[in-house]
Amino acid sequence: MTKKKRLLSGMQPSGALHLGNYLGALKQWVERMDIYDCYYCVVDYHAITIPYDTEQMKTRIFDATVDYLAGGLDPEKCVIFVQSDVPEHMELAWIFNAVTPLGQLMRMTQFKQKAQHAAAKVLGDSNASGNEDDDVQSDLSDAFDTDTTGDDGLKVPLSGIGKINSGLLNYPVLQAADILIYKAEVVPVGEDQVQHIELTRDIARRFNNRFNDVFPLCEAMLSEAPRVMGLDGVNKMSKSLGNHIPLNLGRKQLTKLVTKQAVSDSRRVTLEDPGVPEECNVYAYHKLFSTEEEQQWAHDGCTQASIGCFHCKKAVAKNINDLLDPIRERREEILKSPDTVNDILAEGAKKARAVAQETLEQTREALGFLGKPR
Ligand code: TRP
Ligand code: SF4
Repeated sequence: MTKKKRLLSGMQPSGALHLGNYLGALKQWVERMDIYDCYYCVVDYHAITIPYDTEQMKTRIFDATVDYLAGGLDPEKCVIFVQSDVPEHMELAWIFNAVTPLGQLMRMTQFKQKAQHAAAKVLGDSNASGNEDDDVQSDLSDAFDTDTTGDDGLKVPLSGIGKINSGLLNYPVLQAADILIYKAEVVPVGEDQVQHIELTRDIARRFNNRFNDVFPLCEAMLSEAPRVMGLDGVNKMSKSLGNHIPLNLGRKQLTKLVTKQAVSDSRRVTLEDPGVPEECNVYAYHKLFSTEEEQQWAHDGCTQASIGCFHCKKAVAKNINDLLDPIRERREEILKSPDTVNDILAEGAKKARAVAQETLEQTREALGFLGKPR
């Protein structure tokens, strides 16, 4: 038997998951469990790079873990753990900082987006540019202005840069450590993370060249899942935009949410007005969740104005509910004994740490240090 390739992926603990998280990531995680040697991580240390309420963090981590399990991750078949339970990640991230050019970090699209956002907050949107009297900022401004524009055309705002926390910049270095501390070769991520995986490869290559061959070169594994639009039909489904369908709603609540909040084609002002299903988000949901016949029913009913939007939404809500029922059942089961969630995370941390410590030892040896800490 050939050894299974190792896979690692992570999600920030943003609390209970939504349908977009499930279809876009979790479902693939579950499907990969039998094929790869899987490590799934709740990345709490990544989550501190933006402001948050400390009171809520424990719940966020717990809820995310419950959803992983309810969604079908099996602790017998994969390692489920919390990043901060394995402090070795942080140590490796520090080491990786020494082989990571600042310019490359400044060119990361996600950093630029977050930096713009953070700078706008710091300064207030109206004067997001032109704050001459901050010395730190003007020192840095030239480098940022010229070095950070890439294919994405984004620039980091010059004013306010001095106040952005450097964790935003170093975020992908920690991500590289998350991956490489397990010598993972396969990393399922969304399109927006591909740049970070490329950076991870560069870090591995640079470390190996400068010190010793310790790390493999990993690959991003993109999910083929269609991206799920939010109820507004305009943006990708996202908790922060409030256009999401949480996985932990009961049947009735979900039906109510979908029938009330899902935006349909505005051409259907009255029941007599036909619509264009191809331009309706509810029809897009039918494409994802309904049978061919039902899709046809929605299509014909819409173009011939023989069904109402409420009816159409109700049908799709039923199918989403059917999809979520097994997840609901598992969640209920898990919540009967919430302590087992902690046990699972403790067990996961133990397994993860054993691997992480071994890699770290090799890394420290490669650096010329003494290997194992005394
Ligand atoms: N940065 C990832 C995201 O925002 C989350 C993440 C952190 C991650 N560490 C990782 C994903 C390691 C894959 C592998 O989605
Ligand atoms: Fe959308 Fe269905 Fe209404 Fe047509 S009938 S506009 S597909 S919700």
